[in-house]
Amino acid sequence: MTDMLTPVLTALWDQPDAFTLDGYRQAHGWEALPKALDMAPGDVIAMVKDSGLRGRGGAGFSTGTKWSFLPQGDGKPHYLVVNADESEPGTCKDTPLMMANPHLLIEGAAIAAYAIRAKHAFIYVRGEVTHVVRRLRHAVEEAYAAGFLGTDILGSGFDLEVIVHAGAGAYICGEESALLTSLEGYRGLPRLRPPFPAVAGLYASPTDINNVESIASVPSIVMNGADWFAGLGTEKSKGFGIFNLSGHVTTPGAYEAPLGITLRELLDMSGGMRAGHRLKFWTPGGSSTPLLTDEHLDVPLDFESVAAAGSMLGTRALMCFDETTCVLRAVLRWTEFYEHESCGKCTPCREGTFWMVKVLERLEHGRGTEEDLEKLLDICDNILGRAFCALGDGAVSPITSGIQYFRDEFMQHQKEGGCPFDPAASTLWGNS
Ligand SMILES: Cc1cc2nc3c(=O)[nH]c(=O)nc-3n(C[C@H](O)[C@H](O)[C@H](O)COP(=O)(O)O)c2cc1C
Ligand code: SF4
Repeated sequence: MTDMLTPVLTALWDQPDAFTLDGYRQAHGWEALPKALDMAPGDVIAMVKDSGLRGRGGAGFSTGTKWSFLPQGDGKPHYLVVNADESEPGTCKDTPLMMANPHLLIEGAAIAAYAIRAKHAFIYVRGEVTHVVRRLRHAVEEAYAAGFLGTDILGSGFDLEVIVHAGAGAYICGEESALLTSLEGYRGLPRLRPPFPAVAGLYASPTDINNVESIASVPSIVMNGADWFAGLGTEKSKGFGIFNLSGHVTTPGAYEAPLGITLRELLDMSGGMRAGHRLKFWTPGGSSTPLLTDEHLDVPLDFESVAAAGSMLGTRALMCFDETTCVLRAVLRWTEFYEHESCGKCTPCREGTFWMVKVLERLEHGRGTEEDLEKLLDICDNILGRAFCALGDGAVSPITSGIQYFRDEFMQHQKEGGCPFDPAASTLWGNS
């Protein structure tokens, strides 16, 4: 069963010194950069495009195509920005990757910067993970000392400065345009698009923004070729990715597998749900992606199949909940998160998330009515597609999908004058 796993990004996570330059080099690290530097930048872009790599930050846009959007020969500075803000609930892939193998990301960033002709790369890390910031900065220093960063890298004439920047800790700063605003030193609020970052991004210059996992996948593509990568995964969702399994599962963790693996296969491989319990609902890609149920255990976890099942692959954060969990309570918790993280720039999200929490609280305490459910759906309808950025759209996903699959459970709270579930039973120590 475990041959379904494809450790590439996670291959060195068990090697205690993988985070050091020496440890990484012993495993053939930093061998992809000289290969890339021997190619023309446009050929590196073509290779990544041909590999079929799609952004691992959630939206799944073709990475090579995004790189190709940056104008060439425009005389302006170009920037590479690595999105290491990782704040989507349930998502814990970029943080361990950067802790275990920071050089993989830095090598990928050097190759990406070369391809898009950037002389500056920024790694924007969420503020809370100071251990990651320290580890990355140490690895960057090692890479400079070894001549992999700086001026005239490996005698190629290519110069690159890498800056590790710590954000202040805000979910909205993972949204790419808010991230750029924050990186420029302002409050992290999203920007109107167009212009897109490829045209006017950081400091109004052409900028590529990619997720940590997208960039960290690049060295393996350069080493093994586009066909190797394209040979993994499904027809349209190629390659591998890290799947985070969490919640009421026997063995939570990060599992690297080809796109298209199913939750059933991942659970079979990892010991299943906790003993004596069954899967009730789960998120395929974090709380911003509509909930799925045990009917969807065999949905291939690729962009197309998850969309066809009514959800999104997102960040592959598989939060699994068993039958002891009150779906309304879970949805309320997530909505409180969105209310807290809403940046306040636009009315539908700022006001809507506030009112959604109020109505959900009323329902959770057994004081809600059928009209409240309709009101909730109406508020969702007024946010979805009408908010300024995708945080608003994400905020409605747990509510609309929760009501779609568990409407009766929402109303059971009213009939029973409160929550019919014992919250202690859904804790991992409460009823295992
Ligand atoms: C509210 C919000 C938060 C986001 N947080 C992240 C994040 O933490 N990391 C990330 O890579 N992308 C995040 N994204 C997606 C980014 O806007 C962007 O699509 C991504 O960084 C592009 O990289 P990729 O093409 O490599 O996936 C977020 C989007 C939204 C709307
Ligand atoms: S949708 Fe929410 S987070 Fe996005 S701009 Fe509007 S208020 Fe800010």
